[in-house]
Amino acid sequence: MTDQALVELAFSMLEKAYVPYSHFPVGAALEGEDGTIYTGCNVENAAYGSCICAERTALVKAVSEGCRAFRRLAVVGNSADYCWPCGSCRQMLYEFAPDLEVLVARKDHAFVKYPLRQLLPHGFGPSSLD
Ligand code: THU
Repeated sequence: MTDQALVELAFSMLEKAYVPYSHFPVGAALEGEDGTIYTGCNVENAAYGSCICAERTALVKAVSEGCRAFRRLAVVGNSADYCWPCGSCRQMLYEFAPDLEVLVARKDHAFVKYPLRQLLPHGFGPSSLD
């Protein structure tokens, strides 16, 4: 699958986002090591602290299905600027895929690609506990 196709899959998730509070839908598509794609959207909650981001929705779907290694992630929003993953998502992704490639898109479907290691320098991961 091309990078652009992964981005378009993430865009298809915007309609699934549950965002009655922020009105800011986010979509994600996470590619497992075997090529399986796990999609996600943000799911908000009246108790605001219980909201979950699109990227973490995709990640927990994948891990709960037995996938723990990932190649690429696309994250998209309807915003003029690129929809950068939040710090909590960067941290949770780093646990399983420090070498992940992250495709970050904006509403015109243009995207940029960054290594997760650049988005989360000197990340704290499993080996940090050794
Ligand atoms: N959001 C995500 O889904 N991913 C991010 O990385 C940034 C923020 C969501 C959370 C909330 O539902 C909305 O965007 C506004 O913060």
